[in-house]
Amino acid sequence: MKHENSDRILPATSDAMARALAILGNGGLVAVPTETVYGLAADATNGEAVAGIFSAKGRPQFNPLICHVSSLEMAQEYAVFDAASLALAEAFWPGPLTLVLPLKKDTKIHPLVTAGLDTIGLRFPKGLTAELIAQYGKPLAAPSANSSGKISPTTALAVYQSLGNKVDLILDDGPCAVGLESTIVKVSGGTATILRPGGVTLSDLQKMSHLNLLEAEANASIQAPGMMASHYAPNALMRLNADKLLEGEALLAFGPHRINGADKAVTMLNLSPSGDLIEAAANLFSMMSELDNSGVAKIAVEPITMSGIGVAINDRLKRAAAPRDSDHE
Ligand code: TXA
Ligand code: MG
Repeated sequence: MKHENSDRILPATSDAMARALAILGNGGLVAVPTETVYGLAADATNGEAVAGIFSAKGRPQFNPLICHVSSLEMAQEYAVFDAASLALAEAFWPGPLTLVLPLKKDTKIHPLVTAGLDTIGLRFPKGLTAELIAQYGKPLAAPSANSSGKISPTTALAVYQSLGNKVDLILDDGPCAVGLESTIVKVSGGTATILRPGGVTLSDLQKMSHLNLLEAEANASIQAPGMMASHYAPNALMRLNADKLLEGEALLAFGPHRINGADKAVTMLNLSPSGDLIEAAANLFSMMSELDNSGVAKIAVEPITMSGIGVAINDRLKRAAAPRDSDHE
């Protein structure tokens, strides 16, 4: 069955997987579902294929891509693991954690993937994409499958709306369960530094008793190169932590209690009527897109609790609300 919006969107059947493998083998681009967001995948060892990712997204080439693997063993072919990174991989893989580790010398990973750095970002995702990688036998480079600087897609249709025919095939496996990108942790000299908050929370990481953990906030210069201030930018202006609604605004609500004037909202969506942060994370990007696509000029956002995955939600909202410049991921 083909999707009504595009013959590039295929439900992830074994036939569609076979087609995806053939496209990857020919240096093409396949959008793949992961538990975080949809990724725009290419063979990480094929320079032309990887260049195709940058051009389809309009992404600056100084910004490295995450390499997706289907096992710890595959990851160890490309990066040097120490005790801390091994413990992290064992605790959170497969799952929404990306490890930035020293790149092994003389691997077949194309240098465009790592933007010439001596580190590599590795992630072992859950589900279908891990199966695809295992069948392919080589890692896939994959950033989020959106145009640079725009909202990350959590459905196959959102990929198509952002990238259109620049992607050869979109494997549709329904909406992403987590809905926010992976947590990026750089491990170096026995210290783990959080470069980007995401699906694995700070408290998840703090449960690892022997881990020496730092948050990048304390040292902005060591953030991931792609962590632009403005990102996830909808066309509408975003106003965060609103304590009342202003004339003409749409409302992105959270929890059971509404702010003053909420009844006058042009349109309203609630990230989680019960105030559940995990549900809110899963809904964030699709609801931001839906409000934006309704053509409103301004979106007010109710305060979101800063705990658990709420930290990552607030990080994404802050970037979505930041003044825009031309330099995007
Ligand atoms: O959940 C995710 O991580 C999704 C799915 C598709 O896996 N991917 C994703 O990729 O969010 P992307 O390209 O949108 O964000 C990757 C981030 C960028 O900010 C990039 O700068 C950073 O990872 N990154 C990649 N390699 C790095 C490295 N060697 N050192 C530091 N940061 C790195
Ligand atoms: Mg992205």
